[in-house]
Amino acid sequence: MIASELAPAKINLTLHVTGRRSDGYHLLDSLVVFTTIGDRLTARKLQGLSLSITGPESAGLGAGADNLVLRAARLIGASDLALTLEKCLPLASGIGGGSSDAAACLRLVARLSGLALPAPRAVLGLGADVPVCLTPQTCRMQGIGEAVTPVPELPPVWLVLVNPRVEVPTPQVFRALAQRENAPMPAVLPKWREAGDLFEFLAAQRNDLQEPACQIAPQITQVLQALAQTKGCALSRMSGSGATCFGLYASQLEAERAAASLKAAAPGWWVVATGLAAAQ
Ligand code: C5P
Repeated sequence: MIASELAPAKINLTLHVTGRRSDGYHLLDSLVVFTTIGDRLTARKLQGLSLSITGPESAGLGAGADNLVLRAARLIGASDLALTLEKCLPLASGIGGGSSDAAACLRLVARLSGLALPAPRAVLGLGADVPVCLTPQTCRMQGIGEAVTPVPELPPVWLVLVNPRVEVPTPQVFRALAQRENAPMPAVLPKWREAGDLFEFLAAQRNDLQEPACQIAPQITQVLQALAQTKGCALSRMSGSGATCFGLYASQLEAERAAASLKAAAPGWWVVATGLAAAQ
C-alpha cells in the first residue's frame, strides 16, 4: 500500500494585522489561496513510524521527532507508517511549507485509517498556519489562524512565486511591526466575475508584514520591483511573513514568460509559475 498527498503552497493574497492578544499573538484577517505546486508526502505501511526527506529543497530540514510531519502524525495517532516527504518549497519562506506538510500528513493518515480530520482549533498547536492548510481551498483566515471560512472560488489567475533565498524569522517580522490596529477586510467579499475585479479588490488591500520584512531583508523590495516590472503583472506582494513574494497574472502564458525572464535575470532566486489549486 502506497498513498500520497500534495502539500500545496499557501499564499496570503492579503494579510491584515487587526490587533494583538495578551499572549503576544497577532490577530489576522487574510485571504488565502493554494497553488498547484507544493511538497508531496507519501506513506507506506511499515512497522513503526518514520520519516525520510528528499527533494530539491530538503537541505537543512531535519527528519527528527520535532519535524512538523511527525508531530502531526503523533497528534492524530498514526502508527506503522513510513513517511517520505519530497520537499519542493523553500523552507521558512512565508508560503506555509511546513504547515502544509503537517496538514497533508493529517489528511493522509485520516484517509488511510478512516479517521475524521481534526478540527482547525485542535491543530493550532502545530503552528498558526496549520488550520488553514487542513483543507486547502480559497478561504478567509482570522483569529490567530484558527478561524477559517471558505470563500467563493476566484476567477482563474496565475502566479509567479519568487524567493530571494533569504530567511526572515516570523517572530522577528511580527516584532518589527509597528503597534497599530488596522482595518480588517470588508466583511462581505465581492463576487468576482473576472480576474480584473479580483485585481482591483486586491490592489486596495495589503500585507501588513511586508514593510517590516523589507526592513529586515531589503532583497524583498528588489523582488517586488522585479515582479512588478514583468509584462502582465497586475499586482506584486509578499506572502505571509516572507520572504517569498508573488506576482499575479491574468494568463498562464504571461506568468510563464515572467517566470522565465526572472530566472534569467536572477539565477540565484527561486522562481516558479503556478496556477491555483482546484476546489476540493
Ligand atoms: O504559530 P507559529 O509557530 O507559526 O508562529 C510563529 C511566530 O509568529 C509566533 O511565535 C509569533 O511570534 C508569531 N505569530 C504571531 N501571530 C500570529 C501567528 C504567528 O504573532 N497570528
